[in-house]
Amino acid sequence: MLVAPSILSADFGHLARDVEAICDGGCDLVHVDVMDGHFVPNLTIGPVVVEAVAKAATKLLDIHLMVENNTFFVDLFAPLAPGYISFHIEEEKHPHRLIQKIRGLGIKPAIVLNPHSRPESIEFLLEDLDMVLLMSVNPGFGGQKFIPSVIEKAKRMKDLVEKRNPKCLIEVDGGVNDKNVHDLKAAGVDVVVAGSYVFKHENIAKAIESLKV
Ligand code: DX5
Ligand code: ZN
Repeated sequence: MLVAPSILSADFGHLARDVEAICDGGCDLVHVDVMDGHFVPNLTIGPVVVEAVAKAATKLLDIHLMVENNTFFVDLFAPLAPGYISFHIEEEKHPHRLIQKIRGLGIKPAIVLNPHSRPESIEFLLEDLDMVLLMSVNPGFGGQKFIPSVIEKAKRMKDLVEKRNPKCLIEVDGGVNDKNVHDLKAAGVDVVVAGSYVFKHENIAKAIESLKV
């Protein structure tokens, strides 16, 4: 299992220190939650702060857009050369076009599905994607309870990915901990995002290690 700690649960007064701690602690990606106060009822960080995160990070950034105007935000964050940019299928009229745009900027494109969205809704986009992100909470806040139906969804997504593009990774985000990570692994999930579990743990490196099942 690859591990992408979400810096949403970091101490923003010591952001560089916390980003260094997860990178030194063995994370695979640094998950950055960008919220615009419109698509979700919360507002987080823009490129000024994410630039500081990118400077402190020794792992690639995994930028999760929770915004209304995806194209605008892709252009805003592209200069920071993140590893991945993911956008919500529920908020994009032309996902295929946006995937090509992200790839054209040298960034790996990913699509996010909210808890209600069906895996089949992106079946014909899978061959163009590097990753699919399944939300296991409603987007907007850290520290929420894991929605168990994502396990069944991940299994269905795994079948579709095997058929259409076996190289496409499956990532799950929200309420992940050292207990439910085993079911996620069994369902075929490749990457877990974890915010509160990692940052509330007494030892960040041990928390990351406990998710590498
Ligand atoms: C929720 C975010 C998540 C969140 C995860 O909108 O996308 O990345 O920070 O936090 P935990 O692991 O605390 O649910
Ligand atoms: Zn996220």
